[in-house]
Amino acid sequence: MGSKRAMLGNGLGEALGRSLGEVNRVFDLFTGSAAVAWHIGQRYDATVLASDLQEYSRVLAAAVIERTEAVTDRVWVDSWIERASERLFDHAQWAEIAKLQENLGKIGASEAASSARDQYLGDGFPLSKAYGGYYFSMWQVAWLDALRATLPSQSGLRDLALASIIQAASRCAASPGHTAQPFKPNESAGKFLIEAWRRDLPSIVRSRIDDIAPRHAKREGKAHCMDAIELADRAKPGDLCFLDPPYSGVHYSRFYHVLESIARGDVGEVSGSGRYPNRSDRPVSDFSMSSRSKRAFDDLLAVLARRKVAVIITFPAGSASNGLSGEDVKALAADHFRIEEEKVSSRFSTLGGDLKHRAARQDADELILTLSANV
Ligand SMILES: C[S@@+](CC[C@H](N)C(=O)[O-])C[C@H]1O[C@@H](n2cnc3c(N)ncnc32)[C@H](O)[C@@H]1O
Repeated sequence: MGSKRAMLGNGLGEALGRSLGEVNRVFDLFTGSAAVAWHIGQRYDATVLASDLQEYSRVLAAAVIERTEAVTDRVWVDSWIERASERLFDHAQWAEIAKLQENLGKIGASEAASSARDQYLGDGFPLSKAYGGYYFSMWQVAWLDALRATLPSQSGLRDLALASIIQAASRCAASPGHTAQPFKPNESAGKFLIEAWRRDLPSIVRSRIDDIAPRHAKREGKAHCMDAIELADRAKPGDLCFLDPPYSGVHYSRFYHVLESIARGDVGEVSGSGRYPNRSDRPVSDFSMSSRSKRAFDDLLAVLARRKVAVIITFPAGSASNGLSGEDVKALAADHFRIEEEKVSSRFSTLGGDLKHRAARQDADELILTLSANV
């Protein structure tokens, strides 16, 4: 949800490129999947600083922007997988878990789910306790626990390894699009659940490493698990700040809590079929509350205007569920900055059928505002 990857090839990449001419530092203040932080760090001679309220986003950004060289050796991957395998193969229930995995597709989804939910692997396997038999098969999530517990400790490798587990977990999660609710083990959704549970998680981790390891930044950057306004306060004249704030009226932490648990390495109590942690354990954002989003945006823009930086904002062109619209964002921006350029782009790389449906098309339209400091 909300990744700017497609838009980078669809107007946003050019807008960023045009503004990057003389810039030394770029701030990606709501980094999310880190698609924009990676894009800039890999292509431009500028230091990238990224922030997000979620730790998993910090990890994804750090895995690339904090390295200035590709990681070519894979010996560490073999020893990491070896350490994790030992943890699993030594476990008294491993044979049973491997058998359950083999039986996926041969037995019904509801039997597979209840057998998985009956397993308890002990305190050393917190992700398995929370998500086994829901978002993941017991075999997949035991691998997640074992890989998470045996991460390499060398700086430069730890975030890379953790990012590859996070991305692999996201690809394996048995849920539609994000981790807000797993598929149910019933007639209609059971086949999707089993299809997801059969994905080979450790192989996907290896392929994510092969994708991330060659990427690196031209200059060493830094990712922070931090409020955008706090990092914004460190910006200086000559910096460029990219803002892709929440537009959803539901907190992002509701959609990505499983990835957040993996990043943090602990889960706490979870409840319900969504396996949500307590509200107090989930980051909340004023940008996702319709009573506060306008004020939050205005406060952030005021800080950036005081810091005399250039800004690029993306926001849905129509009305968003956090109570703001593209027009509201434009009016707020004009209070603090000079609007240099205004473009509307599609959030998707292929427009296809959306063009036939005006409402769908409007949903997919995104405003790109390029702002310069009022001097
Ligand atoms: C629209 S998404 C960003 C998507 C990102 N540009 C990408 O390409 O994946 C908004 C992000 O802002 C984060 N967020 C929400 N409130 C925040 C705040 N006050 N400070 C920093 N990050 C925040 C959310 O966790 C979420 O990851």
